[in-house]
Amino acid sequence: MAEKFYITTPIYYPNDVPHIGHAYTTIAADVIARWNKLQGKEVFFLTGTDDHGKKILEAATKANKIPKQFTDDLIPEFKSAWKKLNVNYDRFIRTTDPDHEAVVQQILQKCFDNGDIYKGEYEGFYCTGCEAYFTEKDLEDGCCPIHKKPIELLKEETYMFRLSKYQNKLLELYEKTNFLAPRHRKQEIINRVKEGLRDLSISRNSFNWGIPLPFDKTHVTYVWFDALFNYYSATREKGKEDFWPANVHIVGKDIFWFHTVYWPAFLMSAGLELPKQVFAHGWWTLDKEKISKSRGKVISIDELIGIAGLDSARYFLFREASFGEDGDFSKEALIDRHNNELANKLGNLISRTSSLAEKYGIEKIACPNQDESNICEGTENNLLKKLNLKQIEEYFEEYRIDKALSEIFAFIDHCNEFVQHEKPWETHDTKVLYQLVESIRQIAKLLSPFIPDTAERIQEVFAKDQIKKAPILFTKIETSESISPKLNNTEIPNKTMENVTTIQFEDFAKLDLRVAEIENIEDIPGADKLYKLTLGVGELGERTICAGIKQFYNHDDLKGKKIIIIANLEPRKLKGITSQGMLLAASTKDKKTVSLISPDSDIAPGSTVG
Ligand code: ME8
Ligand code: MG
Repeated sequence: MAEKFYITTPIYYPNDVPHIGHAYTTIAADVIARWNKLQGKEVFFLTGTDDHGKKILEAATKANKIPKQFTDDLIPEFKSAWKKLNVNYDRFIRTTDPDHEAVVQQILQKCFDNGDIYKGEYEGFYCTGCEAYFTEKDLEDGCCPIHKKPIELLKEETYMFRLSKYQNKLLELYEKTNFLAPRHRKQEIINRVKEGLRDLSISRNSFNWGIPLPFDKTHVTYVWFDALFNYYSATREKGKEDFWPANVHIVGKDIFWFHTVYWPAFLMSAGLELPKQVFAHGWWTLDKEKISKSRGKVISIDELIGIAGLDSARYFLFREASFGEDGDFSKEALIDRHNNELANKLGNLISRTSSLAEKYGIEKIACPNQDESNICEGTENNLLKKLNLKQIEEYFEEYRIDKALSEIFAFIDHCNEFVQHEKPWETHDTKVLYQLVESIRQIAKLLSPFIPDTAERIQEVFAKDQIKKAPILFTKIETSESISPKLNNTEIPNKTMENVTTIQFEDFAKLDLRVAEIENIEDIPGADKLYKLTLGVGELGERTICAGIKQFYNHDDLKGKKIIIIANLEPRKLKGITSQGMLLAASTKDKKTVSLISPDSDIAPGSTVG
């Protein structure tokens, strides 16, 4: 029997559409779930919504709807968001689901029968935004420290839960297990619990949008008592029973307290096993303020995906911020990582290796020494040895997924250095290619939890017997900075530089200039200046470019001619044709004479220029 792994996200309030913050937790759980599936485990991944309580009731009232209808209307927004984000959950639970309501009632009865729930009176401060009680010292100028909104003083008859009774048991749990994670959040909870726990109000009778108490139908259950049990009730379904206790609840740091104090105390009272861990991640901020609808600071899911595509967004979220800490969101930082890490590092490795593999043939790569049929098994893969798989596994076991991702990228860097150093396009050494292909297969597998679509595209290319040049995985996004590099010509008091915009050497070095051979020339219907040229560029393979030289050259002048091109120019569409580069030509000011730049001796296509 496969080992079981059960992971949950918080169940979000369906009082509005989800945003990047909800996406973060949900994708994190998806990454961890996918990883554990790769390890051969049987995984149960739960997400859902927290439908009851005053916050939802107020939002529904404002929208002029009854709460059930109001939430029903918002659920599709959550489901479609998770679909767009390629989140593969197993169940979407709602606290209005009948199976959940039944479980909550059974548990309440049990806690009532064992004396942990008693009737009393509660007086205190309450923030509906948090659905939480506060003491006076928690407040900031009379406002909720999270929502920064004025707080109401509640006084009502209520049923109380004997939270105080569990103080020592909780402290013991924190000390003896890894229940609290990451470790740096441990002490804060311990300190607060040591200060003492007051009994908790777990029912309300001033409204009725909730689960009625089985022993007093005039009260509904406090929304957190109801909500937390979703994790357990989802496992009461037939065949799911063995998933309890959960391996990990992934939550934001805003709700760590509820999950690490109330939740285990409720479970202890009900005589149920405790989850192995609660892991709290940090907040995404915008200009250092928490991204939150109630604070009017939001990045929507569509906006997030729209910046550089889904996989770049998924990648960014776990690369930019360490999982457990806050991260400040910026579109520029996302584009930067998309361009410099996904397009340049990963994209280049895949495109170079696949085009060389296409050129030299996979059979030769699979078996570098053709005389011995199973030589591939014995070929030492020194490159792959650089992959620190054990470290990656350890990071995943501790849910430090940002660390795992950066370790994978460290290996991608190794692979790129290896290609650069071994120059397989010159040596034609298939052993080098074999090592690269094997390494890329590993990379694709390891990246699949983070960027599943891209990983699949890489796997498709490299799983084949006949490797073909991979399609472009990430198209670079132009930013104002990449179009016009930062100029710095103030420090060079050189007469000859006057009226010339100088660039830095690094800017020049970004150009990939290559020798190309013109293999074919075609006219383009409706274009009197352009030719469509097919070029051979050595290791870079074949390129199509559109060039405005028709008025100056006949087909015969061009056929077989060697020219110089800029090979790493962002592709452009001209007359419906994707032009993958630009050729170099000299022209007079009046543009009446144009002359192609050619190397003056026979040098192989693909040779570099510079
Ligand atoms: O608290 N950065 O629901 P909720 C990172 N229903 N994560 C963020 C975030 C941000 N800026 N904003 C939101 C509730 N989140 C309860 C939970 S569970 C039994 C009940 C994420 O809709 C993060 O996971 O307010 C946070 O804990 C959660 O959304 C809060 O969602
Ligand atoms: Mg909230």
